Amino acid sequence: MGLGLGPENRRPDQIRQAGIGLEELAIDHVRYIRNDQVLTGSACPAEVSEVLPESARLSARATIAGWEGYQPTRLCSLKRFAVDLGLEAVCYKDESSRFELASFKSLGGAYAVQKVLQRKISQLTDAQVTLEDIQERRHSELASAITVVAATDGNHGRSVAWGARRFGCRCVIYMHEQVSSGRQQAVEAFGARVERVAGNYDDSVHAAASAARENDWIVVSDTSWPGYESIPREVMAGYALMSSEAMEQWPLEEPPTHIFIQGGCGGMAAAICIDLWDRTGTEKPMIVVVEPEPAACLYESACAGGIARVDITTESVMAGLSCGEVSVLAWPVLQQSVDAFLTISDDQVGTLMSRLANEESIVAGESAVAGLAGLLAACGNDQLTRDLDLSPSSRILLFGTEGATDPEIYRQLVG
Ligand SMILES: Cc1ncc(COP(=O)(O)O)c(C=O)c1O
Repeated sequence: MGLGLGPENRRPDQIRQAGIGLEELAIDHVRYIRNDQVLTGSACPAEVSEVLPESARLSARATIAGWEGYQPTRLCSLKRFAVDLGLEAVCYKDESSRFELASFKSLGGAYAVQKVLQRKISQLTDAQVTLEDIQERRHSELASAITVVAATDGNHGRSVAWGARRFGCRCVIYMHEQVSSGRQQAVEAFGARVERVAGNYDDSVHAAASAARENDWIVVSDTSWPGYESIPREVMAGYALMSSEAMEQWPLEEPPTHIFIQGGCGGMAAAICIDLWDRTGTEKPMIVVVEPEPAACLYESACAGGIARVDITTESVMAGLSCGEVSVLAWPVLQQSVDAFLTISDDQVGTLMSRLANEESIVAGESAVAGLAGLLAACGNDQLTRDLDLSPSSRILLFGTEGATDPEIYRQLVG
């Protein structure tokens, strides 16, 4: 495996002071590894695109576009950041207005609930039930006897609960002890029951799966494990809508050169990688995955050359990314499509959220700014800048994956 800047090699002195505000945003605790298994210069191989075939992405898009309240979210040009960093463009897909949930997660869990109900009710009635039937609640009695269950650190559970409310089934959501009470209330507001679990996100995933086995509930998880892949694949199909919109909204003639994308279990990053690679072919942008230092399971997997897990002992403020187990569906995709993996500390999260609020009028939640923090870290380090080929002609695409999904935490961090 490629070159790593382990803790012993961190280079806080190598901060390029390119403009206003950058010195303050210098990010020094960076771990970074280049992925020497990435396929460069070739079209998206079949084994990657088959993880999320175009037909699945198109079908998810058509379904979600039919939901009440659907509107594409905006793609914002962060001109000041581009100037400060000496880049051609920095564009930020702002998911803070995605439905009433204010995060891209509303695209995945709720869509998977609709698909799950379609399949289950088709089985129960021995008839062809359509997604539209589910949307129109044409089998409400049967739906109301079905229970979906998920684990969450906030956003995924909210999406599953929202989908359950929309399509008329029951919902139980497992949350670990450190998920904020604001996030619990947001899930409960959609009528779901919340069960608290000792430990971390990964413990809540295991608790949800075993409760499903005991009670004959259906797990709607955003992460996958051996033998459990088809529902997380549907979740990912919903996520891919975000990159499809972004590419259609892309404001420049030339496509993006780099994507900095945050990772939890890796499902979202993998969905975006597949969609982008399929669209750009041999011109795939350079992709950098960014994770919080205490939950860097994708980074560790890249170092190990295969799936590795991290025991989370400290919760990052980027709650949505605090995940120690990799989605098995996502990993082979990331292994072939991601150029580098990067970790960041929590230090600059509040500052970046405030900068986006004050300078760009963007409401960005804690996990939303991780890609931007990774970009700043890379631009602030000579070796990363060189390795990642960042230059005045670089055009960066970022995914601002959530707004103020916990308003209290947002107020504490931004004021
Ligand atoms: C706001 C936000 N961004 C990014 C992610 C990461 O997504 P994934 O776990 O699919 O990597 C999450 C996951 O919950 C999230 O809530």
